Amino acid sequence: KVASEIRIYEVGPRDGLQNESKFVPTDIKLELINRLAAAGIKDIESTSFVSPKWIKQMSDSVDVMKNLKRVPGVNYPVPVPNLKGYYIAKECNVEEVAIFPAGSEGFSQKNLNCSVKESLQRFKEVAVQAVRDGLRVRGYVSCVVGCPYDGPISPKVIAKITEELLDMGCYEVSLGDTIGVGTAGSIQRLLREVLQVASPDKLALHFHDTYGQGLSNLLAGLEFGIKTVDSSISGLGGCPYARGASGNLATEDLVYFLYGLGVNTNIDLVQLIETGRYISNFLGKPTESKVNRALGDR
Ligand code: HMG
Ligand code: MG
Repeated sequence: KVASEIRIYEVGPRDGLQNESKFVPTDIKLELINRLAAAGIKDIESTSFVSPKWIKQMSDSVDVMKNLKRVPGVNYPVPVPNLKGYYIAKECNVEEVAIFPAGSEGFSQKNLNCSVKESLQRFKEVAVQAVRDGLRVRGYVSCVVGCPYDGPISPKVIAKITEELLDMGCYEVSLGDTIGVGTAGSIQRLLREVLQVASPDKLALHFHDTYGQGLSNLLAGLEFGIKTVDSSISGLGGCPYARGASGNLATEDLVYFLYGLGVNTNIDLVQLIETGRYISNFLGKPTESKVNRALGDR
């Protein structure tokens, strides 16, 4: 049964922008985050503290976090790949960090330059330190269905990593279909396995819409009682180390979809559509959100 309340965790300013080759100025990023908060989004992944040699687009993370006008009640989490990133993020007074091992060796090597096992050791150091410092820690597992390098991934592998992340102190684990190859069937098989080690309120769904399966995968997942969904404004997104990965499920499409299910998100769809237009216009590309296209053209 689908939960009556769903938490939307916006990843546009991070997952959405990290794949953009042209540098987006810090003030545009800040304006995007402010507009998302004004539309009613309560969780906004605002940047990441990764190596600027790897992801140049996120190289202004200190400026983003230091200049952000934080709205009370809004959470501004940031991914960190190692203790170095963690300490820089902590200096910026972040309240929540995210750690992000992969479900596959191939993607782990390309994205983090180490094996899954090594990455889990590194992420554990971050999680232990963050919990000690009183910060919240979110976990991601990427490539939960398939990997661009290793092919299909067994649900058992994902369940094991999810369990490790929860043991490290993560309050929730977001299951990422990084390249969007999942279908409602493979998502159901995955969740049956993962729910052996985690209750639905400890999980989030992070779907990329590469194959157009985002919303049907989401419904399949929500029927297990999961209450948090990651999405990206205007359907921006992708990971530079996942060949063929396109955008995340669009936040506008998600809000419209949830409205149809009778789930109140307290998000202003009109403001969201304007925000999607704002960032897509800046990037000089059409929105990837079908709802934005349909409603925005009226
Ligand atoms: P490495 O090159 O092995 O690391 O990268 P290193 O320790 O050898 O450091 C290399 C240089 O980077 C050094 O500088 C470090 O100081 C610096 P130098 O001495 O050469 O001048 N450095 C840093 N600087 C700032 N902040 C840091 C940091 N770390 C090192 N945190 C590393 C290993 C993990 C750092 C690198 O591979 C990395 O940053 N990877 C992150 C890649 C990334 O951000 N990918 C996208 C996010 S994942 C995703 O999108 C999937 C997700 O959305 C879920 C889904 O869709 O399924 C989450
Ligand atoms: Mg992603």
